[in-house]
Amino acid sequence: MTRKLLLLPGDGIGPEAMAEVRKLISAMNERFSSGFEVEEGLVGGAAYDAHGQAISDADMAKALAADAVLFGAVGGPKWDGVPYEVRPEAGLLRLRKEMELFANLRPAICYPALAASSSLKQEVVEGLDILIVRELTGGVYFGEPKEIIDLGNGQKRGIDTQVYDTFEIERISGVAFELARTRQNKVCSMEKHNVMKSGVLWKDVVAATHKAKYSDVELTHMLADAGGMQLVRWPKQFDVIVTDNLFGDMLSDVAAMLTGSLGMLPSASLGAPDAKTGSRKALYEPVHGSAPDIAGKGLANPIAMIASFAMCLRYSFSMIAEADRLEAAVAAVLDDGQRTADIMSDGKTQLGTGAMGDAILEK
Ligand code: NAI
Ligand code: MG
Repeated sequence: MTRKLLLLPGDGIGPEAMAEVRKLISAMNERFSSGFEVEEGLVGGAAYDAHGQAISDADMAKALAADAVLFGAVGGPKWDGVPYEVRPEAGLLRLRKEMELFANLRPAICYPALAASSSLKQEVVEGLDILIVRELTGGVYFGEPKEIIDLGNGQKRGIDTQVYDTFEIERISGVAFELARTRQNKVCSMEKHNVMKSGVLWKDVVAATHKAKYSDVELTHMLADAGGMQLVRWPKQFDVIVTDNLFGDMLSDVAAMLTGSLGMLPSASLGAPDAKTGSRKALYEPVHGSAPDIAGKGLANPIAMIASFAMCLRYSFSMIAEADRLEAAVAAVLDDGQRTADIMSDGKTQLGTGAMGDAILEK
């Protein structure tokens, strides 16, 4: 069986982190005949420098043909002045749009070895393992009208519109329920039905989807602001949280800070299952950006990228045992006291990007 991966390392620390995943892929092919067929492409500033576009049509076609895309990070001061349509971020936005990636998965996991050095209370974060499922292609970031109008009296009006249709809520809640079945079987849906019509519809459609197809999963509803509070107060009450694009953007950033460094956080973005094969288009990327302040210095933490690859094994290839082993290897390296600079604390051993990748591979 061949598994087609497209690697888009991007800019800054993106290529440094991706190099560590490439080591893992080669090792899996050599030792376990995992059958990964790897292609490479350019995205972001690197693509702009090569062909004046944030991603070329040829690389976009490769992304659409791949079983999964691994994405590093894009952007940096070098490209601050480039035209808006071809700025580095445009590459990621095009990938999300053309691959129709409507479901963004952001796990918040606190590795036991890091709980003690967390700035939060140890009992709040220790053993934390939650998954935020954010709707990524609808809602207020895309709804029309979206404009600034001149009112003519020295005043202007900024307008964004929150729009959700039934099918969008059905498909995102379906993803959340299905993922919950592989975890603790609990979903909490967050919206603001008390002040938003789209929130009323959201809550109704999630409840109807649950009743029709997923009544074995435990479902609760929470107002999104209260959800933010509960995430900080006692996050371990949650398993899977499903929410819209705007609330998901904020709540996943809040949850991220429960776990330590940006350098630890993976994410996945999934599309709809193909009618014939049942497989989903998918893109996996660390939450962090291109970190120009540390790029080229061998300081980047590769764990976010490696954990994104573990999500790829789990969700695109159903390689559950392999994903578990890779995540366990990360935890074991941390248990041994090995750290990159961003998660360094007293008495631990500091490693560079390559040495951290090697240590994980060794485990
Ligand atoms: P950033 O995530 O690149 O960096 C924020 C801080 O976290 C920096 O101090 C950085 O050194 C540190 N950091 C991030 N990842 C790390 C890692 N793996 N290991 C160790 N330390 C790490 O965000 P920032 O500085 O706001 O943006 C830098 C550039 O990245 C900008 O051009 C921005 O547009 C772009 N960006 C790209 C994203 C993407 O490609 N998806 C996401 C966020 C930002
Ligand atoms: Mg955000």
